[in-house]
Amino acid sequence: MEEIKTHSSLRTVKWKDNKVVMIDQTKLPNELVYVTYTDYNEVAQAIRTLVVRGAPAIGVSGAFGLALASLQSKAADIKSFLADLETARKILFETRPTAINLKWGLDRIMNLANKKASENVTIEQLQTLIIDESKKIAEDDITTNRSMGNFGSELFSDKDTIMTHCNAGALATVAYGTALGVIRATKDKGKNIKVIATETRPVQQGSRLTVFELKHDGIDVSLIPDTAVGYTMANKLVNKVVVGADRILRTGHVYNKIGTYQVATMAKQHGIPFYVAAPLSTFDMQSNPEDVVIEMRKGTEVTGIGDKKTAPDDVNVINPAFDMTPPELISGIITEKGVAKPPFEESIKKLFENN
Ligand code: MRU
Repeated sequence: MEEIKTHSSLRTVKWKDNKVVMIDQTKLPNELVYVTYTDYNEVAQAIRTLVVRGAPAIGVSGAFGLALASLQSKAADIKSFLADLETARKILFETRPTAINLKWGLDRIMNLANKKASENVTIEQLQTLIIDESKKIAEDDITTNRSMGNFGSELFSDKDTIMTHCNAGALATVAYGTALGVIRATKDKGKNIKVIATETRPVQQGSRLTVFELKHDGIDVSLIPDTAVGYTMANKLVNKVVVGADRILRTGHVYNKIGTYQVATMAKQHGIPFYVAAPLSTFDMQSNPEDVVIEMRKGTEVTGIGDKKTAPDDVNVINPAFDMTPPELISGIITEKGVAKPPFEESIKKLFENN
């Protein structure tokens, strides 16, 4: 495997010279490859195929996709320009259904475009405004993660061993990360911590991405198969858990990578605090659990590892990408505005009141 010097200065996704540049995460950890897109359809395909993944990174990519669409539009008047943007919004929105940050990023651009369009701006002015807004969404993501890290680090102590599931790190955001941002901030405060990362089958975001990130930051990390969660908790090899989220309801129901519910249930069984770290853009204050669509992904993710087949071709596969962790299993939700504690309906409402 080629040695990659550092990842801390890496940006998962960025806007450069009117193009979208992102790390191709399907190639990690073996190769660090950047891909460049000039067409929003390519960005949509990148989201669909996990070239870029992780809720905040998808939200930023969606906004950048609309910025590309604004440049691609050949419209001669504002009305047709907005119609072109709406076509692009729909295509980007339909790529992945569970992470609410995608809708949030797209809505931010569309709301701005619709508002400014009514103020007699030219198409060129609107393009500039859209590009600037998408760049701001990306920059804000980093500040938000830093703030979350600051609040979250207070919950962790010297000598903690912290379990995390999937990848909620720099690679799931623009930089720094949510759950891994909290871990980075804890370490930066001089606390000597260790991390246990689950492999996170079937796509292996834990082994491929989380381990890659933490090793390059010099953070002590051990990799476990998903099946060893119970063992490590029962044998006191871990004393806290922190994960990210793709969507959080006003009731505190958390949607995150498949397997999170198992980790949370096992943590409850062993009296281990289970924390979730996510920005306010991950909260869906309108939906109820029955409204949330869980993405089902293709069976070949499960019947093989990489190119290697590990199951007979004709087996029926159930491959949900996310699951729901109920609020009673959660000790706290770390945001950029502070930590919400149970009862969540009240504490989450407060976070938004102070926003
Ligand atoms: O399918 P993925 O890799 O996009 O799923 C990612 C996760 O579930 C992350 O835990 C979540 O998006 C939080 S990322 C800060």
